[in-house]
Amino acid sequence: MTKFFLLNINIDGSGAVVAAPDYNTPGGSYYYHWARDGALTMGALLRIATDLDDIREKMDAYVEWVKRVPHTTVSDPNNLDSVLPEPKYEIPNGTVFTGGWCRPQNDGPPLRAKTLIEYANALVENAGAGVSTVSVAEIWEQVQIDLDWSAKNYAADGCDLWEEVRSSDFFWDRYVTRAALSKGADFAAKQGDSIRSDTYRIAAKEIEDALSAHVDTTSASLPWIFESDSRKKDTAVIAALNNGYLDDGVYSPSSKEAAGSVQVLNELFCTSFQVNQDDSKNGVPGVLFGRYEGDQYAGGNPWCLLTSSLAELLYRGAAIVRADAADKQIVSSDDFHAWTSVVGISGGDDSTANRQALADAMVGAGDGVLLRLRSHVASGGFHLAEQLDRTSGESKSANDLTWSYAATLKAMEARKVYFA
Ligand code: NOJ
Ligand code: NOJ
Repeated sequence: MTKFFLLNINIDGSGAVVAAPDYNTPGGSYYYHWARDGALTMGALLRIATDLDDIREKMDAYVEWVKRVPHTTVSDPNNLDSVLPEPKYEIPNGTVFTGGWCRPQNDGPPLRAKTLIEYANALVENAGAGVSTVSVAEIWEQVQIDLDWSAKNYAADGCDLWEEVRSSDFFWDRYVTRAALSKGADFAAKQGDSIRSDTYRIAAKEIEDALSAHVDTTSASLPWIFESDSRKKDTAVIAALNNGYLDDGVYSPSSKEAAGSVQVLNELFCTSFQVNQDDSKNGVPGVLFGRYEGDQYAGGNPWCLLTSSLAELLYRGAAIVRADAADKQIVSSDDFHAWTSVVGISGGDDSTANRQALADAMVGAGDGVLLRLRSHVASGGFHLAEQLDRTSGESKSANDLTWSYAATLKAMEARKVYFA
């Protein structure tokens, strides 16, 4: 999987990430650089790297791409106020895609900035290692461009990450934008820019205050997070909790809201996908997740990246539950009981030993999820498409989707961290 993943990064030395090397999918060609997929991919590459020197050239090329493409294009060919929230670009030249598309997509700028900040932080922490062609100061120049835009426009109308519906309030956008601005505030302070630091901090706080409006406390047995008013049950929420959590207790992967969201989506996809029912009957553990209730794209199927995203959340939640088992600072008693009911163990009282047992059960649940995914992709040599057929479980839609690899490798990395 790592080999297939790397093939899709830094195409022709341009720094671009191809969404999938597939020109013919139900959604048209995927041979483009999508802002979201690109940023998440490079963030995943950084996360899974064991040695910065192994990925330095690719990260540098991505920084150059960001500088040369969205940050140099002056006027938007599609009449947006800014080119920054454009969703997709041609490879390798970086021309903005001008076909009809759902735009703007406001998650691009914060996701780009977040990956760049994480790279800058890695450079600082590994100061003694090899040499990058871009400096931390140069990265900061690029980060400002996206975060200045995000701090002003986080409440603007735009399309969701699935490129279908419009709103000014998506949980995915809110949660990852808050993370980017908050990390940006720290970065700005280190760069001596206290004005930007304050601006980003204030915007992040405003977003944070709006998050609780996404929690439904009445319609299910546990509180759960919905994506938007028009798109409630949406696995984008799980992906958000993986890509935007700041280790600060604000919707931690170990929270009851995370548990409730997993439960609601679990019920949805267990009942709506025949392949989940057949797998369960045949003793294959786990569950395959799709995008949202009522998805019709390519028939409406499970997605590899979202299934892996569920596994990642379970591993990360488990690590937090275990680390906190004695102190009980982050994981409340309600969180503990919510998760025991979701992973289906009796749990017992809220003791340290029972919390440790819960952590193990969550990891077991994560393993089940990856095993179910594996059972459908192993025979194809671990090539990961975008989707798996809702009835047969066979690979479907875009072949070798880069984001599928990014999410799966990140889940495996989170598992490795648990057992390290
Ligand atoms: C292509 C988009 O990428 C996909 O997310 C969407 O579901 C389809 N178009 C249908 O609108
Ligand atoms: C369709 C997905 O809905 C969207 O999120 C993604 O960015 C594109 N495909 C490219 O992978």
